[in-house]
Amino acid sequence: MEAIEANNLSKSFGSVTAVNDVSISVKKGSIFGFLGPNGAGKTTVIRLLTGVLTPDTGSIYIGGVNINNDPLAAKMMMGVIPENGTVYGDLTAEQNIIWTAKFYGMDRTTREQRAQEILSQLGLTERKNDLVRTFSKGMRQRISIACAIVPSPPLLFLDEPTSGLDVHSRRLVIDTIHKMNNAGSTIFLTTHNIEEANALCTTISIINKGKIIATDSPEQLKKTYGTTHYVEISFRQSVTEALFKDESISRVERWGDKWRIYTNDPDHVVKYLAQVAERDHLSIISIATSGPSLEEAFLQLTEVA
Ligand SMILES: Nc1ncnc2c1ncn2[C@@H]1O[C@H](COP(=O)(O)OP(=O)(O)O)[C@@H](O)[C@H]1O
Ligand SMILES: [Mg+2]
Repeated sequence: MEAIEANNLSKSFGSVTAVNDVSISVKKGSIFGFLGPNGAGKTTVIRLLTGVLTPDTGSIYIGGVNINNDPLAAKMMMGVIPENGTVYGDLTAEQNIIWTAKFYGMDRTTREQRAQEILSQLGLTERKNDLVRTFSKGMRQRISIACAIVPSPPLLFLDEPTSGLDVHSRRLVIDTIHKMNNAGSTIFLTTHNIEEANALCTTISIINKGKIIATDSPEQLKKTYGTTHYVEISFRQSVTEALFKDESISRVERWGDKWRIYTNDPDHVVKYLAQVAERDHLSIISIATSGPSLEEAFLQLTEVA
């Protein structure tokens, strides 16, 4: 049984079709990434899967439970961290978590224990007695996540969890996602950040204009849709673009103190560069080859769609 099984979901707002015949299957224990540009329909899909919105067409099963037939049972399996977290500004960090634990019916001792554990995990212990309304965006997001993971939900939804966060908060959020996943939670996250999807997810669906245009592992997506290889080189001496003249070179770009040389045959280009350096008495400071990137795959897919 899959953690999420959604078939042929569609949702329109007036004349705008936000989600168009989307099917998603998420394996238990995986980290599934929903990657797409702004306005692609990511948040709408999360709202459908978490029962906030009802689809115009299609069915949703959460851990085998039809969300339409038994919304409470389905919702009890999930923790949700919406795009703009819902936290109580007039409560302290600790009170937010304790309140949530009460909501889930935890007894006093368990509540206290769980709150301290989560506060520490999210780097909030020192600020636990401060009102949340005095917190930065990153800290509010951490509170939002803290509350969502109180009951250790088997399925965690996060809508753009690290968008606009400072480096420190971002790190804590990513660590928490990994921790939850290692402890057995299935993760469904949306992001428009390609590197994040690449670093976190086992499977990615790319969505554009309400439609899923590709689903695969990050590595497979790169292989299928990325084609460009390049060699990056820097010399101690200054050189001009004229140096890079070979049939195997398709394009040359200047990148800071480096040159990026695009090619379908990196092996040949590396040998060519070594020859040229030898001939012109140039010393090479650095040289590296790079394969197709997920960014390239993403750009290609969201352009053609
Ligand atoms: N409640 C709503 N009413 C009208 N249009 C909406 C509503 N929610 C989303 N949309 C539209 O649906 C499309 C998808 O939005 P959304 O799911 O928020 O995208 P994303 O999260 O990928 O940025 C957009 O064109 C957006 O304007
Ligand atoms: Mg969104």
